[in-house]
Amino acid sequence: MMEEDRTKKLLRDVDAYVEELFAPPDEVLEAALRDSREAGLPEINVSPSEGRLLQLLVEIVDARSVLEIGTLGGYSGIHLARGIRQPGFLTTLELNERHAEVARKNIERAGIEEKAFEIMVGDVKESLATLVREETSPFDLVFIDADKESYPEYLEWALKLTKPGSLILADNAIRGGSVLDPNDASARATREFNERIACDERLSAIVLPLIRERVDGIAIAKVL
Ligand code: SAH
Ligand code: DHB
Ligand code: MG
Repeated sequence: MMEEDRTKKLLRDVDAYVEELFAPPDEVLEAALRDSREAGLPEINVSPSEGRLLQLLVEIVDARSVLEIGTLGGYSGIHLARGIRQPGFLTTLELNERHAEVARKNIERAGIEEKAFEIMVGDVKESLATLVREETSPFDLVFIDADKESYPEYLEWALKLTKPGSLILADNAIRGGSVLDPNDASARATREFNERIACDERLSAIVLPLIRERVDGIAIAKVL
């Protein structure tokens, strides 16, 4: 047990080290978290270093169009938007009108112009159907981070809305290790998602473990 505690502390210290170097204090991001907290939003945003990774992945694929599924207060959205090559566009989907309102203010304060992002308010599935129906040009990157039960379904939509070379990312791919337990019903859809991206011949993929409050991970898949 002592050994386990030491390992936990080491993991946290390592995360803090990386964060200090690569995700230093940032007024706009801190204000976004503060206003989200004050508005009573759940504190389930990505970590600062995962946010930095999101920005970097957007930069690596030189994305001009990014789709986010699950906006919350716009914390991850700001990171994604910062990576987008201009002129570019972030589309982010959110069910909760109050979350969307907080996010709109946070993203605007980050200096993302009104014409460079849209928050589609409503059920993800309806918004995704709208995007497919309207024959929106394929997105260069899709980040999945809404209700976990629907991840396999969101993967299908993401495949419809991307093109070869695009990236499909998903947060919470490990969920404190609950994906390791085949009897844990709460992680069933996440396990199914991970198994699908591992085996789908249209994708080249990996799940990267990440240190957060608990161990979690990000799924990274390239559309071939
Ligand atoms: N990406 C955010 C966190 C998203 S939390 C960040 O890291 O900053 C998940 C969000 O998805 C919540 O705001 C929740 O309201 C939204 N959500 C959950 N189910 C949804 C659905 N079916 N349709 C649209 N949004 C949904
Ligand atoms: C939790 C974390 C997340 O990143 C998320 O998208 C949903 C829930 C959580 O810690 O409960
Ligand atoms: Mg998440």
